[in-house]
Amino acid sequence: MSFPRKRESHLNEPLNDLRMSLQHHKHLFDIPDNITYLNIAAQSPSFTAVYEAGLKGLKQKNRPYSIVISDYFEPVAELKKLFAKLIEVDDHNRIATIPAVSYGMATVAKNIKLNAGDEIIVMHEQFPSNIYVWQKLAEKYNAVIKTIKAPDTTANRVKQWNETILEAITDKTAVVAMGHIHWSNGSLFDLKAIRQRTKAHNALLIIDGSQSVGALPFSVKEIQPDALICAGYKWLFGPYGCGYAYYGSYFDNGVPLEENWSNRLNSENFAGLTNYEPEYKPLANRYSVGESGSFIYVKMQIAALKQVIEWTPIAIQEYCKAISSEAVLELKALGCNIEDDRYRTHHLFGIKLPDNLDIKVLKAALADHNIFVSFRGNYIRISCHLFNTAEDFKKLVTCFSSVLQKV
Ligand SMILES: Cc1ncc(COP(=O)(O)O)c(C=O)c1O
Repeated sequence: MSFPRKRESHLNEPLNDLRMSLQHHKHLFDIPDNITYLNIAAQSPSFTAVYEAGLKGLKQKNRPYSIVISDYFEPVAELKKLFAKLIEVDDHNRIATIPAVSYGMATVAKNIKLNAGDEIIVMHEQFPSNIYVWQKLAEKYNAVIKTIKAPDTTANRVKQWNETILEAITDKTAVVAMGHIHWSNGSLFDLKAIRQRTKAHNALLIIDGSQSVGALPFSVKEIQPDALICAGYKWLFGPYGCGYAYYGSYFDNGVPLEENWSNRLNSENFAGLTNYEPEYKPLANRYSVGESGSFIYVKMQIAALKQVIEWTPIAIQEYCKAISSEAVLELKALGCNIEDDRYRTHHLFGIKLPDNLDIKVLKAALADHNIFVSFRGNYIRISCHLFNTAEDFKKLVTCFSSVLQKV
């Protein structure tokens, strides 16, 4: 398995054409030179255009008489078009805007009926917003959660993990709910093969794209998930509290979590809102959260997605590879375990430390050097973007080696 490089997409032109096209964009961000921020997987920093778009929204709120009816609808439609373009969806009406992954997943679960004994497949140590919802659904229908663990090996770990996932999908499987990558270490799942197998066994495929979409190519046309749910505040550079959902045809005509006025037909006619309208706007519009036209958030999200689309996920991935690859070799030489790069991403990857290392000592050293990373499960999660450079990774290696050489 290698990176999902896509056929004709403009967002994913051949790597060779783009490899050198992206340089760092530190100047667009407000991160001081003495800070090494390798933690965008937790929270992205805003870049200038997003910040200015937010200010514009705040100013509009100062003068509410300047807000017109179309402001409630047109910007959010533009936002849906941008997200649809990013993930290769033709009709932006298949996109709903949501406040959190848990919300998008709750919509999915509300529209699934199971039989007793049906299986829901999830990955080991998956993010909780894509676990609790399945536990509840399994309880409701007396179904079974099947958790697929990575093999306890370092050689070919992710390759074998993918094989185990494929073998686990059988006629008993009703749903496979997982990420494109593992959120704590960047292990790359072979969604194309998993989709083929779920289709062969009539199972739904629900993807949490929060740690991949925006920085790793994803095409709905190629993978054909039944739903794709993404947090918007990481690789999509939106504010905290905004997210995106794509719902495929399985969810057409489903039941939303709530009944917001703006999701009904003719809601643009403010004078006629009490001519209560039985019909929803088409496709996934019914699943958008109430007040999803937020004048502040939507402006910020539009600025963010325009820039991500211009950068392209494939070029971001290549940039992250270019700035991190030497450090990865050095960290491995120091005794750290990092997955073979054919089976992990470059924007996000995990470092498994040697067993004899006292994690508290490393945490203190990282804090001393102003290096920000995440500790997730057994891994130190490193994540990077265009505000980082190879220099950041040099600082990381220096810090690790100062601790590891004392062990
Ligand atoms: C894989 C993944 N999914 C979802 C989320 C966020 O979930 P929610 O939007 O429900 O808070 C995170 C946050 O770290 C994540 O890593």
